[in-house]
Amino acid sequence: MAGSRKLFVRTYGCQMNVYDSERMAGVMAAEGWETTDRPEDADLILLNTCHIREKAAEKVYSELGRLKPLKAANPDLRIGVAGCVAQAEGEEILRRQPAVDFAVGPQAYHKLPKLVRDGGVETDLAEDKFAGMAPALRRRAPAAFLTVQEGCDKFCAFCVVPYTRGAEVSRPAARVLEEAEALAAQGVREVTLLGQTVNAYHGDGPDGADWSLARLIRAVAEIEGLDRIRYTTSHPNDMSDDLIAAHGELPELMPYLHLPVQAGSDRVLRAMNRKHTAEGYLRLIERIRAARPDIAMSGDFIVGFPGETEAEFEETLALVREVRYASAFSFKYSARPGTPAARAGDPVADDVSADRLARLQTLLGEQQRAFLEGLVGRRCDVMIEKPGREPGQMVGRSPWLSPVFLDASPDQVGKIVSVELVGAAPNSLAGRLAA
Ligand code: 5AD
Ligand code: SF4
Repeated sequence: MAGSRKLFVRTYGCQMNVYDSERMAGVMAAEGWETTDRPEDADLILLNTCHIREKAAEKVYSELGRLKPLKAANPDLRIGVAGCVAQAEGEEILRRQPAVDFAVGPQAYHKLPKLVRDGGVETDLAEDKFAGMAPALRRRAPAAFLTVQEGCDKFCAFCVVPYTRGAEVSRPAARVLEEAEALAAQGVREVTLLGQTVNAYHGDGPDGADWSLARLIRAVAEIEGLDRIRYTTSHPNDMSDDLIAAHGELPELMPYLHLPVQAGSDRVLRAMNRKHTAEGYLRLIERIRAARPDIAMSGDFIVGFPGETEAEFEETLALVREVRYASAFSFKYSARPGTPAARAGDPVADDVSADRLARLQTLLGEQQRAFLEGLVGRRCDVMIEKPGREPGQMVGRSPWLSPVFLDASPDQVGKIVSVELVGAAPNSLAGRLAA
């Protein structure tokens, strides 16, 4: 091997891309590649991209424009585009930006070494892309992501995921448990199980039965050292009784749930092909709160879906008021090529969407503030994750996923400590180590 070649990976988009980037680094590490934080030092640059909204996809081309001059400085440099933009428009990327050597879709990462050698486009959808793949290469950190399910069969009318990530595939439970055990052995204390519709998980169990996500979580909770479990992202229609019950029964399962609803009007939900109503979602949350009263709810919202009226948008605001979210993500509708909604007429004017987004975000911001302020004066467990902004300060996470800043020492990283919550900022809490 000629010296050690260096890989730089830039990740856009969701947590699954973060995990995939670690897997790609693992695949290349097995071929003798080291990772670097500096694109100028790299012999291979990988952009792991996101196609969910137009803005996310556009970032790729501007970043490629910035990286192009590096090729003149290092003639051996290879540039590859991975992720959902590669899946959706791999051939076009190579045409539009000749500095790109290859494009690889999210299901073809096991073919990375070949693409680095030969160039080209790989967008095949594999059944189990992780089978036989080298383990993930991750930074030492007490919190880790672990993909258990990929793809989506729901076909919400606005969403590219069913096309870029393919059909729902669940990894066998035994593979997930092996990986979770390896993480625990590296000192990981908190694991977030990932999937586009993670609560639709139905993997082959080691006992020959079909395992649900709840069953998988119960098995992960048994692993020594893994004290905190989270999962994301969920679809309301897959919130099964056993999963709701797990929230009430398992101390390891953290009281935070990201459960996107997208809109509050049944007409819009129907047009979005969500297959649930606003009322159904609200009753579901009642059942989840009955099982785990302190659960922090989070969600995703789209404003300005084609045909959305002012009255329909106000139904979204009404739903938000009823739920009282601890945190949420909200977006202006973005027409995505190939999706049914992109072919619908009746677009909402951009200034109207922008105004609705601002109103929704004001309300969600108030709710987030109220949630955090409501915690002040309480005591909770915090897992210390990394240094904070100021000297002597560390930042950890509450059970409800909120960042908590406190004075602590760097050798407490990975420790779960009891903390007095003494203050709230718009996005975080201030705490003090409890006596
Ligand atoms: N336009 C705007 N937002 C979208 N999302 C998905 N597709 C689109 C789109 N075309 C949002 C949804 C989803 C989150 C990951 O991104 O709210 O839950
Ligand atoms: Fe996209 Fe989620 Fe709907 Fe699947 S359930 S189509 S990933 S928004």
